[in-house]
Order: sequence, then C-alpha cells, then structure tokens
Amino acid sequence: MQIKPTVTLTDQQIAFYRENGYLSIDAITTPEEIAKLRVVYDQIFDRNAGREEGNQFDLAGTDEEGKAAALPQILNPRKYAPELAATLYEANATSIVKQLLGAEATFSGDHAIFKPAGVGAPTPWHQDEAYWDAGTRYNSLSVWMPLQEATLENGCMTFVPGPDDQEILPHQSIGGDTRIHGLEMLNPIDESKAIACPLPPGGATFHNSRTLHFTGANKSAVPRRAYILIFGTPPTPRTDGRKFPWNDARHTARDARAAEAAKKSEAGETVAAR
Ligand code: NI
Repeated sequence: MQIKPTVTLTDQQIAFYRENGYLSIDAITTPEEIAKLRVVYDQIFDRNAGREEGNQFDLAGTDEEGKAAALPQILNPRKYAPELAATLYEANATSIVKQLLGAEATFSGDHAIFKPAGVGAPTPWHQDEAYWDAGTRYNSLSVWMPLQEATLENGCMTFVPGPDDQEILPHQSIGGDTRIHGLEMLNPIDESKAIACPLPPGGATFHNSRTLHFTGANKSAVPRRAYILIFGTPPTPRTDGRKFPWNDARHTARDARAAEAAKKSEAGETVAAR
C-alpha cells in the first residue's frame, strides 16, 4: 500500500531553503515509526551488516579489522534491512523534496551514520558533493533524520547557510590521512556563520549537496543515530573539467573490501555460468 504523505512545506519554508541551502522541520514521521526503525537500525550495526562488501566502515578512522570504529557508517542500509524502506519518513521526504527540487526528483540512495555514545567522532566540515563524481552536474539534497533527540552534545547537524549553486571547495581525507574515507574541507570556515539544528526524534533537516555542514562529537551517554535519504533530479555530465583530486588520492580498507567482494561475486558468477 502506498503511504500517503502528511507534511507539506509552506512557501516560506521553500524560500528559506532556496536562500540558505538547508531547512529544518520538527516532524517528518511519527514516534511509533521512529521506535520501529531504531530497533532495525541497531540490529544492522550490531551484526556488522555490509562490512565484507565495503558498505559498512569507519567514516572517520583507518578502519582496520578488529579496530573499534570512531564513526560507523552503512551505505545502502535498506539492502540489509528492507524494513527501512516504505516508511512514512520516505513518503514525506519524497513529497517535500519534490517541492524543493522539482517533480522529477527521485530517491537515489540511503545511508546511516552511527555516533557511539561518549566516543563518536565529529564529522568535519564538508560538502556532500565532494564525495561524488567531479564530472557530473547534480541537483540533489539529503534528508537527515535522527532516531533519538539530536543535540549539540550528541552531534546535531550544523550548517553554514549558502546559495545552492555555490562551488565545491577544496577537500582532503580527514587529517590528510588518505586511508580514511571521510573528507574535510581543506581551509578553515567562518564558524561564526554556523547554525546548529537540534531536533526531536523524527525531526529532519534538508540540505543541498553543496551546503557546508558539520556534526560534533558525541559527548552524551546515548548513541546518536541518523538515517539519511538522498534525492535528486537526473544528473547530467559536466563539460567544465571539474576535478576532485581528494577522491583519487584515497586508498581505504573499505575500497579494498569492496574490490575483494566484487572479485568473489564475479568468480561466483563465472562458476554459476559454467
Ligand atoms: Ni554530509
């Protein structure tokens, strides 16, 4: 059954997003749905889902086997927990994104970032598009929803407001260590312009792929869970020769696991084909 959206943005909220590159709302789903999602979410992190394929890894560390992750992330978590799809969260996110990006915008991926209680590392200042393909033009945004309260103490989203057509600034792997997947902006930003967005559980922020953002360390006694949906209109090729050298420089344990898993599955397919 198709889930009907229950949230519509006002013209004022749409104008705010256009001007600032982000928007925060207090509720995108119900407490009941949050309670259900939280159980499923914790299970996939607990059982290390996606690790072998390189889809679960430490965003902020070198991610060797057996080393506790400072900032565990799962790409495409619904592959490991189908319950994460077909939610009121997604129905509302989809309809709101169409208001912000246009009717042709569709879901393009999901990820989950878990900040462990007391030790979860900050996610340094970055622009999401810096992770993506330099040769592609995007019209894209991320919806970020916490599965508990998100506070300054546990790592809520913080943005520097900016127009949605701003350039991607230079990035590097965190601390300049190319074994780390996570990126950070190379040059300091003017933090006096930063706006923190604390949220209740099931609230959400929306940010453009070029909006500068950051989340602090988790200094609280509870884990900070965020479930993120990415949407965009169909991407098109760029012709301006844009380059993201920080992505070419990276050699992570995650990439190695992903390559190994791809090799295994190819070998498996070859055997099956015989
Ligand atoms: Ni981000």
